[in-house]
Amino acid sequence: ATNRTFTMLKPDAVENGHIGAILEKISASGFRIVAMKLTQMTKADAEAFYAVHNERPFFGELVEFMTRGPIVAAILEKENAVNDFRTLIGATNPADAAEGTIRKMYATSMGENAVHGSDSDENAAIEGEFHFAGREQF
Ligand code: CMP
Repeated sequence: ATNRTFTMLKPDAVENGHIGAILEKISASGFRIVAMKLTQMTKADAEAFYAVHNERPFFGELVEFMTRGPIVAAILEKENAVNDFRTLIGATNPADAAEGTIRKMYATSMGENAVHGSDSDENAAIEGEFHFAGREQF
């Protein structure tokens, strides 16, 4: 079925000038952009967005990283969007990511891994609503 996923091009990808290349790859892979903006998360935003990870040892580092500069937040639509997008971005650790995936091509490290992709339809909806009002979704 056609459904939606949520993505962020993380501060490392923006800093390194990869916005255009990553969006090109996303479009070429058949995703329709439903919503998109350049924005910067506050500490409170990042702590709330990543609340599921708040007990992890890397939580402080994750919040610090995700708030250090602008991100591109977007909602994407496609047949089987959540799973197909996770395949397109590759493994969390770029060292494990398959050849040709966005993380293999553009990620720096496990923490600074260039791009986020929702892990379920339910989280895609929650994450999309976190960043976009209804009138910003097309
Ligand atoms: P993502 O899967 O988009 O969301 C959770 C993020 O936590 C993950 O990307 C990484 O950026 C980060 N992360 C996961 N594991 C580690 C780790 N071991 N060390 C540092 N950051 C991590």
